[in-house]
Amino acid sequence: MVNVLPLTLTGAVLTRRDKVLVGPVDLTLGARGITVVIGPNGSGKTSLLRMMHGLQRVTQGSVDWAVPDAQARRRQAYVFQQPIALRRSVLANLIYPLRLHGVPRPQAEAEGRAIAARFGLSGKLAQSAPSLSGGEMQSLALARALITRPDVLFADEPCAALDGQTTRRIEAHLTAAAGAGTRLIMATHDMGQARRLADQVIFLLHGRIHEMGDARPFFNGPATPEAAAFLRGDIVD
Ligand SMILES: Nc1ncnc2c1ncn2[C@@H]1O[C@H](COP(=O)(O)OP(=O)(O)OP(=O)(O)O)[C@@H](O)[C@H]1O
Ligand SMILES: [Mg+2]
Repeated sequence: MVNVLPLTLTGAVLTRRDKVLVGPVDLTLGARGITVVIGPNGSGKTSLLRMMHGLQRVTQGSVDWAVPDAQARRRQAYVFQQPIALRRSVLANLIYPLRLHGVPRPQAEAEGRAIAARFGLSGKLAQSAPSLSGGEMQSLALARALITRPDVLFADEPCAALDGQTTRRIEAHLTAAAGAGTRLIMATHDMGQARRLADQVIFLLHGRIHEMGDARPFFNGPATPEAAAFLRGDIVD
């Protein structure tokens, strides 16, 4: 199968009622690895992910995949900053994307149980998903996103409500998914997590890419004073 990547943004801008949320952005994301999007609150991380995934149409410029949009869309998953779940059981939530992809119910349920075990949700399969705790809901959202083995996973602060142990478990799943060929593009405010996971970093400031590059040199010595200040935990203007 042809890869959906590279993803190319050309002068891409997202606006809402004349306010620029993010952009203009020019970038190309290649076929493999983990790209971590960082930046202060309100710098445009969520907006950038939404724009890339096509949740909102760009007002200027373009977002292009290597395959037609409809095909690219089917092979992407997105985990929201505030996870959402269907008002059904955890198992029903897990198998929903597989059923949409035409997987027969018995096979879908077997895969649902298997991924639930990996994400620590085996004891919750019959529970109504909206009654899960915040952290359990985030684990469910990620498990449901990964169950179809998407080519691309967008994850917006996927560990924000998780304790240290669950965070490490989720990080292991994300690394494994990336190793198995899922292209991961995630936002995080956790710099420890960014250092642990990132191959590549996008540092956003005021809706623009302020600095972008390979993770190791970025964390060892960012090129811009703003990125350095952000990594120190200082206020960035
Ligand atoms: N629907 C909207 N209407 C108006 N302004 C919006 C809308 N969505 C986002 N914004 C604004 O766009 C800017 C970027 O928001 P965004 O959610 O992308 O930031 P973020 O980097 O993800 O922040 P956080 O770290 O808090 O999650 C913010 O100033 C926000 O208030
Ligand atoms: Mg956000």
